[in-house]
Amino acid sequence: MIDHASYVIEDLVSAAAIDARVKEMAVEITQHFRDTDKLVVIGLLRGSFMFIADLVRLLDLPVEVDFIETSSYNDTMESSREVRITKDLRGEIEGQDVLVVEDIVDTGHTLNHVLTLLESRRPARMLVCALLDKPSRRETDVRADLVGFEIPDKFVVGYGIDYAQRNRNLPHIGAVRFLEPDGQ
Ligand code: IMP
Ligand code: MG
Repeated sequence: MIDHASYVIEDLVSAAAIDARVKEMAVEITQHFRDTDKLVVIGLLRGSFMFIADLVRLLDLPVEVDFIETSSYNDTMESSREVRITKDLRGEIEGQDVLVVEDIVDTGHTLNHVLTLLESRRPARMLVCALLDKPSRRETDVRADLVGFEIPDKFVVGYGIDYAQRNRNLPHIGAVRFLEPDGQ
């Protein structure tokens, strides 16, 4: 059982900074796909739900939205490394322009697995964006084409990202710091 009173959340990226960076990313994505007939925006559930909601509102393109879900950290802070697809896309992506939207790239195993699967379906063009990147934790050579913020090796929550399913509703990104038994 996780005791949600045993940690505090320290500010890392403000809501205003996220807002400004998402706007910049949306401009880059719109420019990249400016000649598309349709862009299929694929969110990795569940952590990307807030990012994708903000991002698609700023894309000046014909857009469809789909989701894929992978197995998660099982309420721990350790990456499972064995990635399973727990919910697949509803639509086909063969010959389509695709934008993959991830919350955070950590070891890279999740993104690696998902991108290999999506590439096997032969999309026309595929661009990958991640709100956060922890490059110091990488165990694969996968990378996002577009990154919102590079962050240090801290466990983060907020703006859709959880610790044991909690704190997704914070409007900013914070880092979890566990309290000593005396509460400090
Ligand atoms: P990876 O497979 O190790 O790259 O981990 C990717 C997934 O783990 C992300 O999509 C997140 O859902 C989750 N994750 C990675 N780092 C964190 C974190 O600091 N806080 C919460 N979830 C994280
Ligand atoms: Mg995730």
